[in-house]
Amino acid sequence: MILKRIFPAAPCQWFVSLVALALFAGTTHAQTARTYSISALDISQVEQGWGEPQANKSVEGHTLSIGGQTFTNGLGTHASSEFILDVGGRAESFSAVVGIDDEVGKGKGSVVFKVLGDTNQVFWESKELHGGDAPVAVNVSLADVKQLTLLVDGGESIDSDHADWADAKVVMTRGRPSVFSSLKEEAIILTPKPSPKPRINSTKVFGVRPGAPFLYTIAVTGDRPMTFVAKGLPKGLKLDPKTGCITGSLKEKGEHVVTLRAKNALGEATQKFKIICGAQIGLVPALGWNSWNCFASAVTAEKVKSVAAAMVSSGLINHGWTYINIDDFWEVHRDSKDPTLQGPQRDADGHIIPNPRFPDMKGLTDYIHVRGLKAGLYSSPGPWTCGGCVASWQHEELDAQSYGQWGFDYLKYDWCSYGQIDKGDTLPGLQKPYRVMRAALDKVNRDILFSFCQYGGGNVWEWGAEIGGNSWRTTGDINDSWSSMAGIGFRQNGHEKYAGPGHFNDPDMLVVGKVGWGPSLHPTRLTPNEQYTHISLWCLLASPLLIGCDMTQLDDFTLSLLSNDEVLEVNQDPLGRQAARVAQNGQLEVWAKDMEDGSKAVGLFNRGYSETSVTANWSELGLAGKQKVRDLWRQKDLGEFTGSFTASVPRHGVVLVRVWPAK
Ligand code: GLA
Repeated sequence: MILKRIFPAAPCQWFVSLVALALFAGTTHAQTARTYSISALDISQVEQGWGEPQANKSVEGHTLSIGGQTFTNGLGTHASSEFILDVGGRAESFSAVVGIDDEVGKGKGSVVFKVLGDTNQVFWESKELHGGDAPVAVNVSLADVKQLTLLVDGGESIDSDHADWADAKVVMTRGRPSVFSSLKEEAIILTPKPSPKPRINSTKVFGVRPGAPFLYTIAVTGDRPMTFVAKGLPKGLKLDPKTGCITGSLKEKGEHVVTLRAKNALGEATQKFKIICGAQIGLVPALGWNSWNCFASAVTAEKVKSVAAAMVSSGLINHGWTYINIDDFWEVHRDSKDPTLQGPQRDADGHIIPNPRFPDMKGLTDYIHVRGLKAGLYSSPGPWTCGGCVASWQHEELDAQSYGQWGFDYLKYDWCSYGQIDKGDTLPGLQKPYRVMRAALDKVNRDILFSFCQYGGGNVWEWGAEIGGNSWRTTGDINDSWSSMAGIGFRQNGHEKYAGPGHFNDPDMLVVGKVGWGPSLHPTRLTPNEQYTHISLWCLLASPLLIGCDMTQLDDFTLSLLSNDEVLEVNQDPLGRQAARVAQNGQLEVWAKDMEDGSKAVGLFNRGYSETSVTANWSELGLAGKQKVRDLWRQKDLGEFTGSFTASVPRHGVVLVRVWPAK
């Protein structure tokens, strides 16, 4: 990968030196210079991969302690972490003592601390530090620097990366440092409005088990009214020509190629559609919504219904979005004082009883199905869910039967309190609860996608498919920060060999739109470019795409992110490949995946802090000769290119293209 920085080289008067902190702390050598502690600034703006930033404490709230030495002042954070300060060209120097906090134990964690200037010039970089290592002092001259960035890079794994900037201070000649506030980006909509003519966007391949109820909605954009035709539908299936819903069931195993046709006053679209009746379902990643990242413990049946209605009224259903998944808190809580979470947990025969917020599960899934959508539910193999509600331990078969009878099509199964049953320190132990629920679901005459949620334990990607998972979480929970989203997304490299039709890696749900994990919501904290990165990367990764926001409050920008059919096609490609990183140079990365038609989807990413050009070399993509390049977000051909393609990529942004051999 050839990289060209757009910004000029750093001024040569900047220099970096490592000196003992004692030579520096708390003193002034210019009459007017004043020292400011980093921990006294607005540290809520620190982006970090886990937990909350802490003033004068470690990320877990203990006294700051590095290599046995304790500190009363400093910032406790967690990789990957970023804190950007505005020092306005009026700072003299920055100093700190850094290291992994002793709370994680010797040898644990692995981080590199970095201090960056205006143009992301790296002023100083620590060696790789681990738990128990001695503190390392940093003292950096900041003459003329306007923007100071404190970074902690956690590398591929951020486990135990509890990072301390102890005694972190800026000496200012004039004024005060503040938290950088000019990173506001305009939310530019790149996705063109859909054409009024018909375009078929639904998945091109669909797995169903013999005998199981079939539900497939032909997703089509374009003006209504629209009529639908399906030529070559096998016996047992029928199409509603007005809604485009195909229902029924197939008796026998086999493959059927159907021609779908959608027609309106302005034209007609056709699309081949392959139905594979056999053991495997979920042949492409699930597209849908999940209640957790917005409502969390505040979910109710009414909210779920309003989201299902919004999936239709927003038009997202016409882009292929299908699942409406209820996460935790549809069950009775073990000890909540909230009456809407109280009630009998199970009936006399052991059947689970939903909490009073969900009085009619069958009515709820009917409401969802009648709109051409599908319904999902959540449980844990332990006695309690993560939120402390009733879970499936020793009731797996009964619960699977209830899910089937109620009409659910998707189950997220979250390890959580199963830790009380098995420590999860052996592979058979980790696999057992998922095998048990797999067997229970197999007895239900309904196609229920099975989503493992155990945060990547035991390298689940290596065995998730073998024991019947349609997807498996590869990480802990995501949040709406750059460090969380990018930290998770860019760590997926290497998992690509385990993804394929019917079984996909799941780096957790989307954090665009209004999110909040509870009753009060806020707009995602990701910048517009970070959101483009999020959607592009998740599409390249062939991840299940589960929208995490309140769909009734969709703004135009969020809608545009979720309705770009050429981008979604990257995710839904029938080959089921997951992208891998093909080139990396510092913060610049190129990821690519093979598409069924022989083309490649390629993401040019800039994880850095200012606009930079990124090049994808054909040789790194296994290509040669002239290639046609199309910008997928803008849905625009960019021309033919020989040898490589270069694009200017904004801070934390992406350019997503598709590349075909030129004719
Ligand atoms: C865990 C999961 C989340 C969510 C909550 C529900 O944290 O990882 O996605 O399901 O439990 O309690």
